[in-house]
Amino acid sequence: MRKVASSTPLLLTVDASSAEPLFRQIYQGIREGILSGRLRVGERVPSTRLLAGELGVARSTVVLAYEHLVAEGYVTAATSVGSFVADNLPDVSPLPAGVRSITPVPAGPRVVAARVREAERVSLGTPTVRRWPVPFRVGEPALDAFPTAIWETLRRRRARRRPRAMLGYGSHGGFPPLREAIATYLGASRGVRVRAEQVLLVRGAQQAIDLVARTLLDPGCDVWVEDPGYLAVRAAFLTSGARLVPVPVDEEGLDVAVGRALAPHARMAYVAPSNQFPLGVTMSLPRRLALLDWAAHAGAWVVEDDYDSDFRYAGRPITALQGLDTSQRVIYVGTFSKTLFPALRLGYLAVPPDLVDAFDRVQQLADFVSPTVEQAVVADFLSEGHFARHVRRMRALYQERQAALHDTLRRELSGLARADVHESGMHLVAWLDSDADDAAVSRAALDAKVEVPPLSLYCLERRLPPALLMGYAAVPAAQSGRAARLLRGVLERRARARA
Ligand SMILES: Cc1ncc(COP(=O)(O)O)c(C=O)c1O
Repeated sequence: MRKVASSTPLLLTVDASSAEPLFRQIYQGIREGILSGRLRVGERVPSTRLLAGELGVARSTVVLAYEHLVAEGYVTAATSVGSFVADNLPDVSPLPAGVRSITPVPAGPRVVAARVREAERVSLGTPTVRRWPVPFRVGEPALDAFPTAIWETLRRRRARRRPRAMLGYGSHGGFPPLREAIATYLGASRGVRVRAEQVLLVRGAQQAIDLVARTLLDPGCDVWVEDPGYLAVRAAFLTSGARLVPVPVDEEGLDVAVGRALAPHARMAYVAPSNQFPLGVTMSLPRRLALLDWAAHAGAWVVEDDYDSDFRYAGRPITALQGLDTSQRVIYVGTFSKTLFPALRLGYLAVPPDLVDAFDRVQQLADFVSPTVEQAVVADFLSEGHFARHVRRMRALYQERQAALHDTLRRELSGLARADVHESGMHLVAWLDSDADDAAVSRAALDAKVEVPPLSLYCLERRLPPALLMGYAAVPAAQSGRAARLLRGVLERRARARA
């Protein structure tokens, strides 16, 4: 870099009566000269002797100022030819000549959107510690039983064959063979009536719901949400500016009559009818029909979150709400997070035909599609029968693990917590004594390295008896006893403290 001799007046003055030390005034004056562009990169700064003479200060004062400038990277260390404005300025690039300096200001408020603050307050609850593995974490599948060898074989095969097209941006809506395979699977196993063009691949159910919110909600419109209900969904609706209308869930699922009374003109209703989160109830047929009837008359959308419907252990498989809809009002959401593994980040939407373009356009605003090669591996996994086999095995395993946890609770937590057997899902709800504080128990349990979120966390307006959620899918039977004893210790200590 060419070093140029300084021809720029420093315009530096010092005030001996100021409380600011002289070296600091010099340091700030030169720094400001650099940041404002008056002193350009590579320009020589005056020698310490010269500047000290000009300013009428001791040379050691200027030396100290220069030492600070050198330490912070504004000026190069002195050599036999002098010191220069550094060419890699530390935090800002030099401004063009004539641009006003950046004057430091006191730190002000760091504003995030009010909707985000509201979403955090209402939706995210207490932070969980993402240690791994933690017994009873809710929503975690049995990663220990995932057929990794088959997966790796399919991956290697795809990687070897990878045609150039798979390295490009990919098709809107996702890898066509996977959209086909999902449409076939949904029709056969969930009664969803959908063509491949209506299936859009996204990065998990959460992104699907975020996309639904962006595409269909306007600020200020009402959305029915289940109370108690899934937290992250509420966050997606709130950050779109929607108003949450908590609708109670009972043993038949979302109470449609209450929803109608509270917000008859809501834009949307969110439900998880196959396995309501967190209570695990299945929405009854009369309620399903009532919900669809309301949506058709109100011109509202119904978001059906079918996140873990493959894990049903008793009774007849229950088909999706979407298959009952004759007015094209249902947006169906599915995910591979529970059936395969969450880190895959692959889910899908099945949308009515007239919404496909709108969803496609909105998806492109935030993201494109998931990596094509991963989608191709999932397509192979489905079409070659591995998926159906894996889901069958997991259904049997989860049923065993649920039974093991149920027994453990009876043995280890009798008198402290009780749970009913669930017909579906991946967690149990363990009810505590009516005077227990489930949030406090949950916090204490986390200290004992057991993750059991409190039911109250998922309630907006409902007041339900205290309970803890206990995921069992990822907990081998042999481990659930030890973890339950840790939880018993917590519950006994709290019961003694209450007595
Ligand atoms: C009710 C419900 N919906 C959606 C999701 C999100 O799943 P994904 O990992 O596909 O974003 C979960 C995850 O646990 C869930 O419990």
